Amino acid sequence: MSHPPSQPRTPVFAANWKMSHGPAETGAFVERFTAHHRRRSDATVVIFPPAISLAAFAAAASGRLDLEFGVQDVHTELEGAHTSGISAAMVPATGATWALAGHSERRREFGDTDADVGRKLVRILEAGLRPVLCVGETLEERESGRLSTVLETQIREAVRPLDREDRARLVYAYEPVWAIGTGRTASPADAAEAHAIVREQLARTEGCDAERAAILYGGSVKPANIEALLAAPGVDGVLVGGASLDPDSWAAICAAGR
Ligand code: PGA
Repeated sequence: MSHPPSQPRTPVFAANWKMSHGPAETGAFVERFTAHHRRRSDATVVIFPPAISLAAFAAAASGRLDLEFGVQDVHTELEGAHTSGISAAMVPATGATWALAGHSERRREFGDTDADVGRKLVRILEAGLRPVLCVGETLEERESGRLSTVLETQIREAVRPLDREDRARLVYAYEPVWAIGTGRTASPADAAEAHAIVREQLARTEGCDAERAAILYGGSVKPANIEALLAAPGVDGVLVGGASLDPDSWAAICAAGR
């Protein structure tokens, strides 16, 4: 498992608010966060609010163009009778420039398959948004020795419908399902091992840019473990749920590695 030394990749600090922070809380969050967070030119900070709060986020953060934002999911179709669906084509008008695809909560609660995730990536890229493909194994999969197989399958199937150019545009998030919202973080060594597997799979997949792709770690990241995780080989940033909801804790995370 040897790679040439990789070029430095700009760290990404991503916040996934899931179903927290409606429009009212979003404005208050941005006000408090921006009072503490100093703009950084050496990192990207991106927040994924719930869709209902996108307009509030855009308004509250209008003076802080360094803060990027995105949607947590898009529909596989661009239009039509899909009650509650979010069309990727409608996202850019909100000012959002990123989109998540394949979060484990989407896979588990809404039955998103690898093929669905692939279709969503196509929509996200057509809309000119920056996709984050989330992959990760369950505890049972890890304990039965299937870590590599699960990650490889999730990546291979999701990128299948993408052409070479689009494959090179993906950002990845490795999020072990057993570490999400559980307080149980993967050790820096666990994260490094899984990120190396992801990068190996990218190197084997035509069109994917293994050395330049950003691979984020997600799962119970908090101010107390951010520095150690960011220092792990191959970890290019983080995708944070619970600890991103408090503006002070999120500011502490976004200050890591300065
Ligand atoms: P967590 O969630 O930080 O609350 O574990 C991470 C995620 O699901 O993206």
